[in-house]
Amino acid sequence: MCGIIGYIGNKEAMPILLQGLRRLEYRGYDSAGIAILNDQETRDKIQIQRIRAVGKIDALADKLKNKDKEMKGTIGIAHTRWATHGGVTEENAHPHFACDGKLIIAHNGIIENYRQLKEHLGAKHSFKSETDTEVLAHLIESHYDGDLRRAVEKALMHTRGTYGLVVMHADHPDKIVAARLGSPLVVGIGDGEYYVASDAAPLLAYTKKVAFLNDGEIAEISRSGFETFNLRDESVTKCVEEIEWNEEKAQKQGYDDFMLKEIFDQPVVYEDAIRGRIDLEEGTAHLGGLDMSDAEMRSVNRIILIACGTALHAAMAGKYAFERLSGIPTEVDVASEFRYRDPIIDNKTLVFAISQSGETFDTLAALREAKRKGAFTRGIVNVIGSTIARETDGGTYIHAGPELAVASTKAYTNMVAILLLYAVQFGRLRHMTVATGQRLVRALMEIPEKMQVILKKSEEIKKLAGKYSGYHDFLFLARGINFPVASEGSLKLKEISYIHSEAYPAGEMKHGVNALLSPEFPVLAIMTKNQLYEKMRSNIEEVRARKSKVILLASEGDAEAQSLADDIIYVPQTMELLEPLLNTIPLQLFAYHMAVILGKDVDRPRNLAKSVTVE
Ligand code: AGP
Repeated sequence: MCGIIGYIGNKEAMPILLQGLRRLEYRGYDSAGIAILNDQETRDKIQIQRIRAVGKIDALADKLKNKDKEMKGTIGIAHTRWATHGGVTEENAHPHFACDGKLIIAHNGIIENYRQLKEHLGAKHSFKSETDTEVLAHLIESHYDGDLRRAVEKALMHTRGTYGLVVMHADHPDKIVAARLGSPLVVGIGDGEYYVASDAAPLLAYTKKVAFLNDGEIAEISRSGFETFNLRDESVTKCVEEIEWNEEKAQKQGYDDFMLKEIFDQPVVYEDAIRGRIDLEEGTAHLGGLDMSDAEMRSVNRIILIACGTALHAAMAGKYAFERLSGIPTEVDVASEFRYRDPIIDNKTLVFAISQSGETFDTLAALREAKRKGAFTRGIVNVIGSTIARETDGGTYIHAGPELAVASTKAYTNMVAILLLYAVQFGRLRHMTVATGQRLVRALMEIPEKMQVILKKSEEIKKLAGKYSGYHDFLFLARGINFPVASEGSLKLKEISYIHSEAYPAGEMKHGVNALLSPEFPVLAIMTKNQLYEKMRSNIEEVRARKSKVILLASEGDAEAQSLADDIIYVPQTMELLEPLLNTIPLQLFAYHMAVILGKDVDRPRNLAKSVTVE
């Protein structure tokens, strides 16, 4: 939920750290800070300079202007914050010093027992902030006897909670110590220079060689390399991975916002998701990372999909696909509820943890609970090497590329795509015929072109958003597999335009929600040609009878739909189970344009972060 970056090398650290913070800003942006260890030999003593600012990275950049002399040095750490403990103030911004001004840390996560630790440290230590992180700085200082890494190890043995942590000390101008438990950290490997960051995005400008720290690992990073240890001080070997993304891909590529770029990315990244995984001849899918034998896959008698937010809506769509194509009973669980409901699990239960970031605390905790109870576990994740990806018994990367907008779009459609591929694979291992499988695979292959047809309607949808930008409440209505689509459309509108909306199964309207219908309460309804078309039609007639305006998502060629709608968006037809891949896109565009019209910060909406790594 916060962004961390550290640098040690032969270049001035400040510009590198500031640029890195800008690429991490989506992880949290209520305040930021940079600390540089001024390692100039001319100085009578090595010291650490720190500058912090409340607000986004630009506020920090303003304070750094004309500070080149003060902030001179080739080693530094930096942090952009999403507040968890303590308000949004400069004093609470990271990095945080310990007492002597020689040790400084930046931290992502929550130290749950920080109050007890603060009491334990007692009056000998004076605290300036309300943060758990500052307590950790003083705790490390209290263990410091000249060996920085050991001091960090000893201190962390006393903590409870999560951390992604970088530490510098004026006595050690040649190293940064980094440690992770529950919050991601990745080491970037350059030529005589090294980086450490919360994720790979800020490293792309400098290197594609990375090593992901695992929970419980600690790294000592110097200009000549890095060593990794566990908390028992035993050396740990790390493999260096070559990440696929270049910085270009993580840029906006000419779009006004990352979100719009990522909406338009969908046809291309969808192809990345299915490439090499579909088999038209056999009418099936082949998903690597599912290291279960066919017999084990046949033995699965229950599937549970756990996720949060947008990933949860993908899971909701996946449920329909698994049950209809494989015949396996499938449940969807809100991850934050799952572990507290005492789920019944056995070794024939397959649990999928679905997560774009692969770091969502609730999903990770639910996954761990499922593993504890003996389930097969698989990840459906976007970020390579993320914690969920590494803690599941296997899984599938969705290959959506870096998704930098807080509002998830391309990751959603790729999650749905992977869930459909799994459903086809399981179905073909059971009763599904090759002909049915081939029809599904052919339909999956036609999706990118159909996505492009919808994306060409962006300007039309922008006009529609403008027409409805004065309303304060919206209802998204649908049935069947389009109810997850309506749920996702409603979440998009809420999280970036701040307009209240809710999604409702259309059949439920008569049980109470009809009372809300009025000219001030527009309804966006999905009435595409599928088995529930007639049912939806009568629901929409009820809505219109109560004078609510109706925006209709209808199938191309459905002329009758005109009589039911104040406004209509036509979408290409596809097989019913594949509709979420298409029908969600107009809703993403509707929310995006509405937010832009209302002047919202589309990529970094208020109160939200891209990766929620605390409970
Ligand atoms: C979606 O637009 C939101 N940003 C949020 O609901 C997100 O989907 C949720 O926090 C789950 O994140 P994850 O996919 O990284 O686990």
